[in-house]
Amino acid sequence: MSAPSLAVRGLDVRFVDRGKTFSAVSLESLDVAPGESLALTGPSGCGKSTLLYALAGLLKPSSGTVAWDGSDVYARGESARDAWRRRNVGFVFQDFELLPELSPLRNVLVPATFERFRVDAATRARAESLLEKFGVPARGATGALSRGERQRVALARALLFDPPVILADEPTASLDAASGAAVIAALAEQARAEGRTVIAASHDPLLIKRLGGELRLERGQAKMATA
Ligand SMILES: Nc1ncnc2c1ncn2[C@@H]1O[C@H](COP(=O)(O)OP(=O)(O)O)[C@@H](O)[C@H]1O
Ligand SMILES: [Mg+2]
Repeated sequence: MSAPSLAVRGLDVRFVDRGKTFSAVSLESLDVAPGESLALTGPSGCGKSTLLYALAGLLKPSSGTVAWDGSDVYARGESARDAWRRRNVGFVFQDFELLPELSPLRNVLVPATFERFRVDAATRARAESLLEKFGVPARGATGALSRGERQRVALARALLFDPPVILADEPTASLDAASGAAVIAALAEQARAEGRTVIAASHDPLLIKRLGGELRLERGQAKMATA
């Protein structure tokens, strides 16, 4: 898969709160070269999650464009956008969005089950090896795992198709030090890999450092931090 570049132009995501419209994120422009990674930082409520959803094709902005590889994500129809996202974007949600009654293996394989009823052996083997690498058991109920283990299941699911883009929402928040270090190591490895982009909302200085770039959001207004 070729490495995508990201170009955001005139992005504005507005919400209505008690009858008043406000801008949750407003971003004149953002360019990320193929293979570059960055952290989204800024205080709670500044729009980090909203921006990640917009970049993922999960939330259509009120105005502006999000183009990966020169192609506007929101110019596609919904099902084409979903298919594109499954292959190109691994999203790590802040609250994981795992199915607690299913095993870690079944959770990691969820993206594959959208495409085919039967998961092929190579995909299953990759899921198992990701879980093994992250030190999480493949069997048993995911809901019984620790928070750190569940975060690694979510990360393994995002990495299933080795997508060129990983978007992660505060992936080390409320993890113990060892789990946090494992998550940072995995994301840093992905960010270093040829043609891979990792964009993570984070307050974690270690993760921010490993991603190389930083975009600081302040009250819906983004500022590019200078290193
Ligand atoms: N679906 C929504 N409807 C209305 N307001 C929202 C919605 N999602 C987020 N917001 C508001 O938008 C702002 C930015 O939220 P968010 O992107 O979650 O910030 P962050 O991730 O930086 O904490 C906040 O004021 C939040 O309350
Ligand atoms: Mg958030």
